[in-house]
Amino acid sequence: MTKVCPEKLPNYEEKIKNFFEEHLHTDEEIRYALAGSGYFDVRDSNEAWIRVWVKKGGMIVLPAGIYHRFTLDTNNYIKAMRLFVGDPVWTPFNRPHDHLPERKKYLEEFVQKEDAGATVDAAA
Ligand code: LAC
Ligand code: NI
Repeated sequence: MTKVCPEKLPNYEEKIKNFFEEHLHTDEEIRYALAGSGYFDVRDSNEAWIRVWVKKGGMIVLPAGIYHRFTLDTNNYIKAMRLFVGDPVWTPFNRPHDHLPERKKYLEEFVQKEDAGATVDAAA
């Protein structure tokens, strides 16, 4: 579990700076917000940022290989649990890390298929 706020997180300034560096992981990043709130930014297929506001009770699943970043909102507090599939791997790979197999797999599975029109229209 990670509490992100100036009082609770050792090396807060450095960590918050690192969370906001665009990075990817070789595993899924699954985050469940136990308290507080914050923003996860991901990119659409045109590289524009999409801001996801995760609040208490909310969960986000970032696929392995997706570039993302995190920042607090004006509340300056989030208590978030990271749920791992298998052994915990925390390593962030800052952009660019396009040569990693997980990045290539992400592009194949999510971006190329989407551009080929394979997504389901939730409104249909
Ligand atoms: C992490 C989030 C902040 O890697 O992206 O822990
Ligand atoms: Ni991350």
